[in-house]
Amino acid sequence: EKDGYDTFMMKEIHQQPSVVADTLRGRIDDNGHITLDEVRLSEQDFRDIDKVFIVACGTSYHAGLVTKYALEHWTRLPCEVELASEFRYRDPVLDRSTLVIAISQSGETMDTLMALRHARTQKARVLSISNTVGSTIPRESDAVLYTRAGIEVSVASTKAFLTQLAACYLVALHIAQMRGVMYADEVADVVASLTAMPDKIQEVLDGSDQITELAAQMATSHRVLFIGRHVGYPVALEGALKLKEIAYIEAEGFAAGELKHGPISLIETGTPVIAMVPSPAGRSLLHDKMISNMQEVKARGARLIAIAEEGDDVTAAHADHTIYVPKSPTLLAPLLTTVPLQRLAVEYAGALGNDIDQPRNLAKSVTVE
Ligand code: F6R
Repeated sequence: EKDGYDTFMMKEIHQQPSVVADTLRGRIDDNGHITLDEVRLSEQDFRDIDKVFIVACGTSYHAGLVTKYALEHWTRLPCEVELASEFRYRDPVLDRSTLVIAISQSGETMDTLMALRHARTQKARVLSISNTVGSTIPRESDAVLYTRAGIEVSVASTKAFLTQLAACYLVALHIAQMRGVMYADEVADVVASLTAMPDKIQEVLDGSDQITELAAQMATSHRVLFIGRHVGYPVALEGALKLKEIAYIEAEGFAAGELKHGPISLIETGTPVIAMVPSPAGRSLLHDKMISNMQEVKARGARLIAIAEEGDDVTAAHADHTIYVPKSPTLLAPLLTTVPLQRLAVEYAGALGNDIDQPRNLAKSVTVE
C-alpha cells in the first residue's frame, strides 16, 4: 500500500501533482472562471463581508498564512490569520460581516473547532477547508470546500498542505470574482497559472534526487534555520515544522528581515540556512532584499542553501547550494517551493534512522484542546 515507497510520507509527497489536480477539477469552467457551487454562500453573502479571519493549527495554519497574501491581493479585503488556540481565548472583533475560514485536514482538531464555534456565536459566517468529508468542522460550518487529497497516513502533513493551498487560492479568487474586484480575464489568467501547477510540482519531484546527498551532509547539524519573505516566510515556517516533527532537529523559520533583530545570533560556522528566494521577475525589490539577507548570514559562516527559481543565477552565485523550481507567479510559488523542504525532512530523518511516518509524541488528529 506504500506503492513501492519506503514510507507513506514519501508516497504522499509523490501524490501531490495528482491530488492538487483533483482539488482543482470541476471547480473551474471553460472560460477559466471559478465555480464553487458547492460552497453554499451567495454572491450577496460574499459582498457583505468586510473582513476575513483564517483560523487553523500547525501546517494548516501555514496554509492560512500563505492565503493571506493571495486573498488580500486579489480581494482587497483585510485578512488576519490566527492560531485557533489563540483566537478562541482572546476577544476577537467579529460580526455578521466577518468571514471566518477554518482550515483543518482532519476536520476534527479541537482547537479549530472551538474557534469556529466561538465565531458562530458571534454571528460570523464560517467557511471550512477540510480533507475529511462529514467530519465535525465541515458539519458545523456554513459552507465547506473539500480538498480531496485522499487519506493522509503520514503524521507529518504534506499532500494535505498543498491541496489546502490550492483550495484556498480557489476561494480567494472566487471571492474576488463574486465581489467584482478582479476582471474576468484577470481571474482567468491566474486560473491558467494554477492549472499549470500540477505539472510543475511533478518537475520539482523529478529533480529532487540531489536532496538525498544534501540531507546526508546536513544530518550532522543540530540546528537548521529557514528564512523567507512574503509567501516564502510561511513556507520557511512549514519547512522548519517538517524538520522538527520527523528529524527532531531544532529548526526555526524566520522572516528574513527579522534576522538582524535577534535570530542571526544563532548562526555559527556551518549552520545550515535554507533561504526561500522570491522570483527575480516582477518583485525584484523583494529578490534584492533576500540577496542581502543571504549575504548577512553567509558573512556569519552559514552554509547557505537556496530554493530559487530556474535561471536565477544571482542567487546561485551567493549560495553554497541552489535547488531550482520552475517559474511561477509569486503568489502560487509555495505549491512548488514547499516540495523540496518536505523531501529534505524525509531524507534528513531517514539519515538519522527515525520513524518517518510515526514521529514520537505526535498524533495525526488532535482532538483535545
Ligand atoms: C504537521 C501536522 C499538524 C497539523 C495540525 C492541524 O505536519 O500534521 O501540525 O497540521 O495538527 O491538523 P488539522 O489540519 O487536521 O486541523
